[in-house]
Amino acid sequence: MLTDNEIKIIKASTPALAEYGEQITGRFYQILLAKNPELKNIFNMTNQKSGNQKQALAMAVYAFSKYVDNLSVILGDVERIAQKHASLGIKAEHYPLVGSALLEAIEEILNPGEEVIAAWASGYGILANVFIEREKALYEENAQKAGGWSDTRDFIIVKMHQETPLITSFYLQPSDQGVVSEYTAGQYISIYLQPEGQAYQQIRQYSLSGAFDKKGYRISVKKELNDQGEGLVSNYLHSQFKVGDTVKVTPPCGEFVLQKTDNPVVLISGGVGITPMQAMLETLTQQTESREVHFIHGAQDRQHHAFKNELDLLVEKQKVDAHCFYQQVDTLSSGEYQGLIDIQKIHNLLPAGAEYYICGPVVMMKAIYQQLKDLKVSDEQIHYEVFGPNKSLA
Ligand code: HEM
Repeated sequence: MLTDNEIKIIKASTPALAEYGEQITGRFYQILLAKNPELKNIFNMTNQKSGNQKQALAMAVYAFSKYVDNLSVILGDVERIAQKHASLGIKAEHYPLVGSALLEAIEEILNPGEEVIAAWASGYGILANVFIEREKALYEENAQKAGGWSDTRDFIIVKMHQETPLITSFYLQPSDQGVVSEYTAGQYISIYLQPEGQAYQQIRQYSLSGAFDKKGYRISVKKELNDQGEGLVSNYLHSQFKVGDTVKVTPPCGEFVLQKTDNPVVLISGGVGITPMQAMLETLTQQTESREVHFIHGAQDRQHHAFKNELDLLVEKQKVDAHCFYQQVDTLSSGEYQGLIDIQKIHNLLPAGAEYYICGPVVMMKAIYQQLKDLKVSDEQIHYEVFGPNKSLA
């Protein structure tokens, strides 16, 4: 437990963290990775270059200082981060390394004096313990489930299917031919590999893109065409892997999952953000007790719309109401629109009291979030997944 004085001191740091948070977390990573270069096998070095990870961590540290007297506010974030950590194999012994680098960075940038550093050391200890306990429980749960395992397990690529010019699905089955643990639609797995020419192992998360089928998992990976270093692992999977090859996979993790209610569901995605939505769509439409499902997707054009044939079949069977927004169109059919996703165009067709699930590029998700807020949809009804470090939409 933190003392009242420690809480007061940590809270008083909030304005400084708002101003210098990213500078502190940027310096933190320099210290952490210089002192512990082996951690480069765990951290996504592309996110380091882009600065996304330092922003996500700065937001987390800021939120901790702001809500240190009412940590229940950040429990949702703690769960999301713990799930991500569990997928990355973060262990209790890593926490002191991160703690000492963080305190060193705070001291160097803010030079706030001994008392403040001591309060932050206590605060960090409390937060670290919350993560350590939750992650330990997740490791145990994942290992004890039927078909579960800990750390990584070898999976063979048994099939590859090109969904669009950029997205290819990889069907994975365990090389030990055992059963695989069930997941909830919306969850992801991590793939561990070391691309040729890279000094360190790379870990990336991929959403499971289909309903659980007991035999294995499917991920659908987008090739990146930019030269900013993005897509290092995705492009390597596309260019170097073929049927019969083996990849190292962690158990399914993630808290962006279908809520267990009877409420109508609206699934909204852009581009490759369709992957967790496809898992939710397949899961919902296979269930016997029918739940009202609306599917909204934005893509460059029909050719780049992954799983379009599957969607058309479900529409034909009246299992789902679908609305597609294409930036480029030839001819439009019903339920298809030109331009970016515009909820206003279809909001009359959407049921009241629905749960909204969103995944896609952050700019798109921010726009959708705003459109939903304009329609008076509450935050409790909105669930979203950010691919990459989460800097929050709201
Ligand atoms: C991801 C916070 C401890 C390694 C993240 C994210 C946050 C975060 C906010 C982004 C999650 C997301 O949006 O998906 C924290 C906090 C910690 C802590 C507050 C301590 C109290 C650790 C430790 C390690 C670690 C001890 C291991 C050395 C990572 C890695 C990622 C991550 C590898 C993935 C991001 C990337 O590689 O770019 N953490 N973390 N974290 N964290 Fe932590």
